Amino acid sequence: MKQNNVVTLAAMKARGEKISQLTCYDYSTARLMDQAGINMILVGDSLGMTMQGYSDTLPVTLEEMILYGRSVARGCRNAFVVLDMPFMSYQVSPEQALANAGRMMKETGVDGVKLEGGEGICPQIRAITAAGIPVCAHVGMTPQSYHAFGGFTVQGKGEAGAARLLKDALTVQEAGAFAVVLECVPPKLAALISRKLDIITIGIGAGGGCDGQVLVYQDMLGITEGQTPKFVKAFAQVGQQMMEAFQAYDSQVKSGAFPAPAQTYAKSDCGDEVLNR
Ligand code: KIV
Ligand code: NA
Repeated sequence: MKQNNVVTLAAMKARGEKISQLTCYDYSTARLMDQAGINMILVGDSLGMTMQGYSDTLPVTLEEMILYGRSVARGCRNAFVVLDMPFMSYQVSPEQALANAGRMMKETGVDGVKLEGGEGICPQIRAITAAGIPVCAHVGMTPQSYHAFGGFTVQGKGEAGAARLLKDALTVQEAGAFAVVLECVPPKLAALISRKLDIITIGIGAGGGCDGQVLVYQDMLGITEGQTPKFVKAFAQVGQQMMEAFQAYDSQVKSGAFPAPAQTYAKSDCGDEVLNR
């Protein structure tokens, strides 16, 4: 069993320890996050935007999620890996949800799946958890429904919105979810939900009162171009560093400075017989 699993993560909440989660979409980066001690990794369908260049998550397919999920799973010895169920891979019925969650587990080696929705998606959560697959729910601003929301906007506003969101969180717990992502939820409400629930809450744009935090890794590394949402913090300027490295390579190739003797095989390293013929 991994150092991070559903039991240890629940114990972290019980002890009041915060849980770290980042999104990840490839093996090399997963290894680094895993070695850094990140508790959970989310192979989010945000990869539709960050890795594939779409403007939203709706076009992402099950096959694509499986491909990325498999790469990340191979890089993680200790981090608990959650794989997002893409749009229309679970909404149709509990049977569809279970069949696809099963494929995702069998074909990738991840530790659990995530799907978006509250009370309305509980039959799916029940079906998947009954098969022994850990489910993370996702409430608040759920990007697969942005057409219905009229944009990527804060949810849970006002009395009715707050009551709705609290009910959603309670019902996904009741249906068997081991965790729930709270995305773009007013911080006081997210803190209240986190206190009321026994399962772990992972916040993004939901303030410091959640049991854990998640960020998209291109956002937190400073790779994302243009404006990022208010809740993003860039912990490094990796985008700038990459740009400088690419520019240096380009100019050294063109000037002939690269490759230098240090990057060139000596005569004896490469087939003297051929050269002496
Ligand atoms: O797809 C994703 O990256 C997500 C997180 C932002 C929670 O669902
Ligand atoms: Na997602």
